[in-house]
Amino acid sequence: MIEQPPHIQSIPVYKPGKSSVDGWDGPVHKLSSNENPYPPLPSVIAAMADAVSNMHRYPNMAAPELTRLLAERYGVAENEIAFGGGSVEVAAQLIRAFAGAGDEVMYAWRSFEAYPILVRGAGATPVQVPLTSELRHDLPAMLAAITDKTRVIFVCTPNNPTGPTVGHDELRAFIAQVPARVLVVVDEAYVHFQNDPAAARGIDLFREFPNVAVLHTFSKAYGLAGLRLGYAIAREKIQEGLRKVAMPFAVTDVAQAAGVASLAAEDELQARIDVLIAERTRVEAELAAQGWHVTPSQANFTWLQLGDNTEAVSAHLTSRGIIARPFAGQGIRITIGDAEANDAVLAALADAPRG
Ligand SMILES: Cc1ncc(COP(=O)(O)O)c(C=O)c1O
Repeated sequence: MIEQPPHIQSIPVYKPGKSSVDGWDGPVHKLSSNENPYPPLPSVIAAMADAVSNMHRYPNMAAPELTRLLAERYGVAENEIAFGGGSVEVAAQLIRAFAGAGDEVMYAWRSFEAYPILVRGAGATPVQVPLTSELRHDLPAMLAAITDKTRVIFVCTPNNPTGPTVGHDELRAFIAQVPARVLVVVDEAYVHFQNDPAAARGIDLFREFPNVAVLHTFSKAYGLAGLRLGYAIAREKIQEGLRKVAMPFAVTDVAQAAGVASLAAEDELQARIDVLIAERTRVEAELAAQGWHVTPSQANFTWLQLGDNTEAVSAHLTSRGIIARPFAGQGIRITIGDAEANDAVLAALADAPRG
């Protein structure tokens, strides 16, 4: 009988989210995965179509054009950028490269659901530090939880699923106290949606501290979740580790072409981001007016802290064709969609059970 080793047995089996709703024949709004409601821009689709004709060849693993453009955009060296099939793959590489059996990888909880899975998959030990009562990172508690075994710390800002960012000054003071042998990964999957000037700026922290890696993705603000393209900005020493464990040829020429075309269309993409930020402001103001407890979000989703009422509200949303992401006994994360989807959420929540 084939058996999984204990560290793999400890990983829960992944349950894919729903995409249809039984007993509802109105429009279904899938707001469970923090996807962008807008399809790829025509210029991005054209670039991808062009690259398809070269699919009989393996991609250029160095992604030279995309690397050059991002290096220019962020003012970093070309050897300080590495790509993966989504930033989740780059996160997995960082863990595999810098932590193994017996090592600890720390992150706030609740945060991105993939962290415990990736850490266990690498055979390392997850260390989860509870968020504060305001659903923010508790950096003093995270500092206190560092041990001789700590190898990697993830800081997710803005935090998925609760929404707040970590302040720049508090994160800078935190990293200054983390031992230099510990890698700090600033996961900025939602950074393009943040508009608070006091929020952490991973790139500035990368410039100041050699043990910082910043994670970015084309999935969210750039609207290319299905394409799988993400990257890390980190010093050469960290990049060397990433290269050792990278999945060869994971970033296709189609993905590279889409990335290049997206960077050329940043103004158009920014206009879409601005609409989503305005929608977030509208949704959160309306929810507060309806009497819900809203945690102000800096990402493309909003969080309702519902405790025991989570299941009832989730069932109510589903009955109205809204697929959100409930976390049992805690709350519901609802992605900000287009105005029609957001109106449907607001209308459904207006008469949802209040617990
Ligand atoms: C905090 C965070 N990091 C990383 C990712 C991974 O995104 P991707 O692998 O699509 O780049 C997500 C996706 O939901 C996320 O929420």
